[in-house]
Amino acid sequence: MTISPFAFRAVPTIEVCWEGARRLGEIVADRFNARKPLIVTDPGLVKAGLIAPIAASMKSAGLDVLVFDNIVPDPPETAIHDALSAARTHGADIVVGLGGGSSLDVAKVVAVQLGTGQPLAEMYGIGKVKGARLPLLLVPTTAGTGSEVTNISIITTGESTKMDVVSPQLYADLVVLDAQLTIGLPKLHTAATGIDAMVHAIEAYTGQAKKNPLSDLFAREALRLLTGNLIAACRDGSNRDAREAMLLGATLAGQAFANSPVAAVHALAYPLGGHYHVPHGLSNALMLAPVLRFNAKAAARLYAELADALALPGSGTAETRASALIVHMEKLIADSGVPRRLSDVGVTRESLPMLAADAMKQTRLLVNNPIEVREQDALALYGEAF
Ligand SMILES: NC(=O)c1ccc[n+]([C@@H]2O[C@H](COP(=O)([O-])OP(=O)(O)OC[C@H]3O[C@@H](n4cnc5c(N)ncnc54)[C@H](O)[C@@H]3O)[C@@H](O)[C@H]2O)c1
Ligand SMILES: [Fe+2]
Repeated sequence: MTISPFAFRAVPTIEVCWEGARRLGEIVADRFNARKPLIVTDPGLVKAGLIAPIAASMKSAGLDVLVFDNIVPDPPETAIHDALSAARTHGADIVVGLGGGSSLDVAKVVAVQLGTGQPLAEMYGIGKVKGARLPLLLVPTTAGTGSEVTNISIITTGESTKMDVVSPQLYADLVVLDAQLTIGLPKLHTAATGIDAMVHAIEAYTGQAKKNPLSDLFAREALRLLTGNLIAACRDGSNRDAREAMLLGATLAGQAFANSPVAAVHALAYPLGGHYHVPHGLSNALMLAPVLRFNAKAAARLYAELADALALPGSGTAETRASALIVHMEKLIADSGVPRRLSDVGVTRESLPMLAADAMKQTRLLVNNPIEVREQDALALYGEAF
């Protein structure tokens, strides 16, 4: 088999260690020539008691740490400006993102801006970042967006719009995966973020533009870990094995889609977040099955390969195996307890044409879909999910 040319990019180091976050002080002091870390996080994590032991470990390692804990979900540009000015006042020389995708996305952009001074407005788009960032360490607490291993930050720029910064400088220097941090993640959030990660794996595997043998490898293993452990993690949040598998799975899925980007599920999910503030993972969960059924016309063979990778029972044609995958995903979503229909999360039927028109603007994502999605298709898909 000839291999089409491809490039696979990734963070240089991932450390997987239960309770590893408690050693972050030591890790920063040993590995980086930095003394003034800025931790970027959100108030919920401070309240949950996750941040204090980490800040304490930094202090005992002789570091002068500042905790910036004002990040909100789907962070707006003001979150970046505020974190940046706190970092400058502190004289931060390393940025530590600690939290879900929202905190990690802000930490990445702040590390770049501290290093380059480049205005945020000039960074949006692909490959627009100029210059080198400050050292950057990322520690995810959801499993998850995969943001810890992607070169992407997603920022809310208006009432209902998000924009992406996509540049190689956004790959972190070091990622620490400590699944102990995810133990307190509530059930609904465990389900929604876990399904988001599964969508990353599936969409990377069927990516029209950049799918490659390495992104495939990561996607298959990610989906195996995530589908095999989602329900156990939802049922008993303190199940260490399930939490470790979910976190690793989400990171592998992140590496897959960092190299073979996501597609129509995400393109149709974005407007739900923008207009109805449906959390990112949940909006993906709502759109997944309709888009899989639509894509199956073109992607049956690839979905069948994923069904085989998951060792789903049964046999037959590619179409039969693809449908086994779709049924399996629908059952997982149902068993996880997330809302099932757009009408359950406040979306109105009258708004569907507006959502469909908005989804069409996600051209960066739609080009990766295995089959073209036109506006009337998007409308039909929203109708199916309603
Ligand atoms: N950069 C990327 O590659 C990428 C990919 C997908 C999504 N995203 C972005 O990530 C964001 C969504 O991130 P998210 O879903 O991880 O959630 P989040 O960061 O928005 O956090 C949501 C809530 O979960 C809480 N939380 C997080 N971890 C917890 C824990 N361990 N215990 C208890 N509570 C916890 C937080 O306090 C917060 O209130 C969106 O802005 C989305 O656009 C980025
Ligand atoms: Fe996602």
